[in-house]
Amino acid sequence: MFTINENYLQLNESYLFSTIAKKINEFTLSNPETDIIRLGIGDVTLPLPPSVVDALHKSVDEMGRKETFRGYGPEQGYGFLREKIAEIDFQKRGISVSADEIFVSDGSKSDTGNILDILGEQNSVALADPVYPVYQDTNVMRLGADNRLILLPCTAENNFLPQLPTEKIDIIYLCYPDNPTGTVMTKPQLKQWVDYALENRSLILFDAAYEAFITEDDIPRSIFEIEGAEQCAIEFRSFSKNAGFTGLRCSYAVVPKSLKTHTADGREVSLHGLWNRRQSTKFNGTPYIVQRAAEAVYSPEGQNEIREMVDYYMQNAAIIRSALLSKGWPVFGGVNSPYVWFKCPGTDNSWRFFDRLLHECHIVGTPGVGFGAYGEGYFRLSAFNSLEKTREAVRRIERWEV
Ligand code: MLT
Repeated sequence: MFTINENYLQLNESYLFSTIAKKINEFTLSNPETDIIRLGIGDVTLPLPPSVVDALHKSVDEMGRKETFRGYGPEQGYGFLREKIAEIDFQKRGISVSADEIFVSDGSKSDTGNILDILGEQNSVALADPVYPVYQDTNVMRLGADNRLILLPCTAENNFLPQLPTEKIDIIYLCYPDNPTGTVMTKPQLKQWVDYALENRSLILFDAAYEAFITEDDIPRSIFEIEGAEQCAIEFRSFSKNAGFTGLRCSYAVVPKSLKTHTADGREVSLHGLWNRRQSTKFNGTPYIVQRAAEAVYSPEGQNEIREMVDYYMQNAAIIRSALLSKGWPVFGGVNSPYVWFKCPGTDNSWRFFDRLLHECHIVGTPGVGFGAYGEGYFRLSAFNSLEKTREAVRRIERWEV
């Protein structure tokens, strides 16, 4: 008899956003005329920027001509994109990252899950609670729900920023700007984590998918702004939220060549080499046309267009944030992040609030408890909708007597 990976049986029955989608479908079936406003899953709503669309058209035409057709590409990504990323996202900001430390991929969700392939099973793993569910679920898939997974409580008292662990942890996931709470770390705060990792020889998996939404000057956009991070961190970035690629799929991971660890018998190993090995075996690369589209994001026009998109969503975030604050509800995030996180009024039960908001205001959000036990009693609204729908959602909330 064949067996299964029984760790899967320890997961929640469905992924958070699938559960929410199911609830919306049920509601829509019994209320077909209702105008639901979706501020739940962080899925972009603006169309792709014009320079990206142009690049797609051109590259599709290239693929249709004998002279310019391309088959398999390099698994790590094409040089034209890796060089642009290194130059514009890092070197121009004074951060030393080279093109060959960049691995282009199809999403940070896949990358942050797949990275576990190259890491040992005995590692202790620390996650914030609440946290983006993919980090926890992929670890449970691999290790089972066991005590090597350490949850770092994030509460209103610590401003939803985890405290440094008191014990020695091998792997630490950090996501800043944070999903779901929208909070950020300052440079000195992030430096404490890098120092901890260097001292304890831990690895930080730093998810910077929301970096483009930072509006304040003193907030680090990359962990590699912190000295020493190249010896203890991998960074994940995505084109999904800043350039509208949720349906196109492109991301990258920065695996520094100076990031090393040791085998049980004391040999030094480079994580760059291992990830390269993993990607060349299990991944055939992001499609050529998608990489050309991502390259266009780095043109001067592309940079202006994505800036406008991000500003548009951040205007929505500001509208949501100020409406909730004027209701007197405790609010976090929404300043350097497209997510606004707040204390549910009148209940400590996030799902009960989800149901009321859906049934009474016809607004979909994400219950905080879906991101972890410490999210219970909190709620997340996303700014990824149109200005009109955001204004309408806010009007409904303003009139609502909770
Ligand atoms: C979210 O809503 O948390 C995000 O859309 C999830 C994701 O990017 O996978």
